[in-house]
Amino acid sequence: MGRLQVQVLWCLHLMLSNWTLAAPNSFYQKYLHGKNQDNQYNRVNLKVESASSVFALRGGNATLPCRFWYEPELNSPREVRIKWSWFPVGGGPQTDVLVAVGSHSRTFGEFRGRVQLSQNFPEDATLVLTELQLNDTGRYVCEVVDGLEDQRTTVDLELRGVVFPYRHPLGRYSLNFLDAQRACEQQDATLATFAQLYQSWEDGLNWCNAGWLADRTVQYPITQPRAPCGGPGLAPGIRSYGKRLLRLHRYDAFCFSSSLRGQVYYLQPSNKVNLTEARRACEDDKAQMAKVGQLYAAWKLTGLDHCNAGWLADGSVRYPITRPRRNCGPSEPGVRSFGFPPPQDKHGVYCYKAQE
Ligand SMILES: *[C@@H]1O[C@H](CO)[C@@H](O)[C@H](O)[C@H]1NC(C)=O
Ligand SMILES: *[C@@H]1O[C@H](CO)[C@@H](O)[C@H](O)[C@H]1NC(C)=O
Ligand SMILES: *[C@@H]1O[C@H](CO)[C@@H](O)[C@H](O)[C@H]1NC(C)=O
Ligand SMILES: *[C@@H]1O[C@H](CO)[C@@H](O)[C@H](O)[C@H]1NC(C)=O
Repeated sequence: MGRLQVQVLWCLHLMLSNWTLAAPNSFYQKYLHGKNQDNQYNRVNLKVESASSVFALRGGNATLPCRFWYEPELNSPREVRIKWSWFPVGGGPQTDVLVAVGSHSRTFGEFRGRVQLSQNFPEDATLVLTELQLNDTGRYVCEVVDGLEDQRTTVDLELRGVVFPYRHPLGRYSLNFLDAQRACEQQDATLATFAQLYQSWEDGLNWCNAGWLADRTVQYPITQPRAPCGGPGLAPGIRSYGKRLLRLHRYDAFCFSSSLRGQVYYLQPSNKVNLTEARRACEDDKAQMAKVGQLYAAWKLTGLDHCNAGWLADGSVRYPITRPRRNCGPSEPGVRSFGFPPPQDKHGVYCYKAQE
């Protein structure tokens, strides 16, 4: 570089120093630092960033944010490979969700046709999941690959909903892990995760019977310590029996239910009905008997409040109270249960109508 050129540059520098601070990628900066910045491969670091967790509702959409950038910034975009994968709650294997290069993408397994990248800007790797199901919760991994650089970050997807303890008609502690999974599914629910149980404990769930969780542990939430529930001297908290044997050990279950595409309502035919008549009454109303998970979701998420006991599909009798009052059970809101009465007993019935 000649002496004259250096002087010209120095004047430029004085004139432009404020401007260059605001616009570090200007032509001037490139001139000073070398035009081949993009090719200095080793000096460019790829960075990836997401959120820690995202909450959504069943049936809705979830946006899992992820963006990447380079340090120092690049002057021209480079093609990267974006890969999303998923660790289900309960410790299943890592599963591919989506792989994309440029505008081409491929989706996998249960996620086929339900996920896409939002691609709102060139460095956007955000994933949009539609038609969320109860079992979509877990840890999602956003991975960006550029040549030999490979960076990843994670985001936890959680659903808003309600945890409820479930006991089989056969009685206390009659479910092994697989039975418990099935029992929750039959109530339009899924085994609760520890995070979901913890949230419901914070919301006041106090239940002195141990139940299976999705991670194959057996636990129960206590807000008011007392003798049969770990002892009065033990602080409030979630008591854990740890992991139990899937087939051998038997407990109750903690199920999780989220929002409904439909409506739960109380139906009382002109006279109260036995269990077989109850089923018929809902069918005559172009509906089905409500499941326990549906009653809990309607109670928790839409504020269903009815001081009348009614049959449910599993043969239990319950009623939902959001505004506690005299003659409607305890002073806290909750779904009151009469267990599984004899099927000839007479009650009202809770029906469920799916959304058209
Ligand atoms: C830079 O801006 C500041 C005020 O923003 C001004 O005082 C200073 O003189 C400017 N320097 C140059 C080299 O233009
Ligand atoms: C979810 O996204 C799909 C397509 O991206 C859209 O058609 C649908 O309305 C969205 N659903 C909700 C509940 O926002
Ligand atoms: C998740 O739930 C859906 C609908 O309930 C079901 O079809 C699917 O098989 C479940 N997926 C897994 C991995 O269990
Ligand atoms: C319910 O009542 C009907 C008569 O209305 C009777 O036929 C049926 O056996 C009863 N079911 C039960 C479970 O008692």
